Amino acid sequence: MSTHRELAQKYLVPHFTPKAAWQNDALPIIERAEGCYLYDTDGVEYLDGLAGLFCVNIGHGRPDLSNAAAKQMNKLAYSTNWGFAHPPAIEAAEMIAGFAPGDLSETFFVSSGSEAVESAIKFARNYHLARGDEGRYKVISRNWAYHGTTLGALSVTGIPKFRDPYLPMLWDGTRHVSNTRECTSPVGTPAAELSCVQAIEEMILAEGPETISMVIGEPVQNGGGALVPPNGYWQELRRICDRYGVLLVADEVICSFGRFGHWFASERLDVVPDMITFAKGVTSAYQPLGGVVIRGQLVEELFDSPMGSYVHGSTFGGHPVATAVAVANMTAMRDEGVLQHVLDNEGYFTEQLQAMGDAHRSVREVRGTGYFYAVDLCSDSANDLDLSPTQETGLRGGALGGFVREERMTVRPDDRGYTGLTISPPLVADRAIIDDLVARIDRVADRVDAWLGDND
Ligand SMILES: Cc1ncc(COP(=O)(O)O)c(C=O)c1O
Repeated sequence: MSTHRELAQKYLVPHFTPKAAWQNDALPIIERAEGCYLYDTDGVEYLDGLAGLFCVNIGHGRPDLSNAAAKQMNKLAYSTNWGFAHPPAIEAAEMIAGFAPGDLSETFFVSSGSEAVESAIKFARNYHLARGDEGRYKVISRNWAYHGTTLGALSVTGIPKFRDPYLPMLWDGTRHVSNTRECTSPVGTPAAELSCVQAIEEMILAEGPETISMVIGEPVQNGGGALVPPNGYWQELRRICDRYGVLLVADEVICSFGRFGHWFASERLDVVPDMITFAKGVTSAYQPLGGVVIRGQLVEELFDSPMGSYVHGSTFGGHPVATAVAVANMTAMRDEGVLQHVLDNEGYFTEQLQAMGDAHRSVREVRGTGYFYAVDLCSDSANDLDLSPTQETGLRGGALGGFVREERMTVRPDDRGYTGLTISPPLVADRAIIDDLVARIDRVADRVDAWLGDND
């Protein structure tokens, strides 16, 4: 029994973890990592099939990033972006402006994805006020979307189990509409006529366009399992938002910094939103950093208005060490061709996962693209049978998690809008690592097939 484990169980309050999983002799204590592999205090190796939490994009153990942090700490450990500026934040913002689509050119830094979403919500409100559009404050978001846990961001999140305990504290300005998987239109329906597109326009009209501040969505939604949008979906969102004076926000906390082979997924989807929120991969998680990159013209309008400023800020937003690490991370990703590596290997990754899925009764579908996938489980794929309620409860309640743990990997057993596995390895994973990952997932699916046989 590791001393660390006992101490963790005594002193650490875990995030989103039930007592049974925490107060457990098998609780892994991860102490080091290299590339795509993690090692615990007992020397056991795990394949990091989730890049930490969708964030260690460049892989673990990079001395160039830790050196950038140490150098910055020795030079200027702290200064603010509040009435002052410092070189690392300026350099990071300039690089992001160069990578962002269209005229998104000005970045407001924070320290996490939730704060990035909060910042977009507040900027949109500030912007509308600056234009004298005082009635606009509502946000349209999509079912099962995850946009963070702080109260503003949680209001926008559409995952019931995260929202329900806090419902009395969530503001009443969010309206949730169907996500792309909930589209009821037949295949081949033009984008403008898709039910999931029309739901957004109908909600704007039902609420009154003069009350709507922004629409937010992930380019590829995580909640529900790697929901790749139909062609033309984001162009329709852009058209609708322009029509009603609503700001369009792409939440790219997962989708940016290479997850889909581009700096920003909006570029891949050929859309220019008004704001893009990011975090996680901007530093490959070597430091906590998030932000929102905004169309320059919107910032200018706010500055030039009687309001004169964006009324928002925080102590650590744009921290010198975090932004210095962001610069080092973006530089390394650019110079080492990490985005091209994703584009070169995503086809192989998809094929291997699809072939694995086709061989199992328990795999209904493999969804996703880039380095981001979901393996959606069912009771019998040949006959398109859903999991029975008992099977769903059993898999979600620990069986699936146990199979994954025994394979020594960190893909996520998921219950948010589907039952299955969410996969998102570091972007430096090569074909040998993809093979290793798919082989482990294949063995998990074998175990699920057998488990379903025993739990019909
Ligand atoms: C799309 C999206 N938005 C916001 C967040 C919240 O980020 P954080 O956990 O850094 O607050 C997440 C976290 O996973 C996310 O996936």
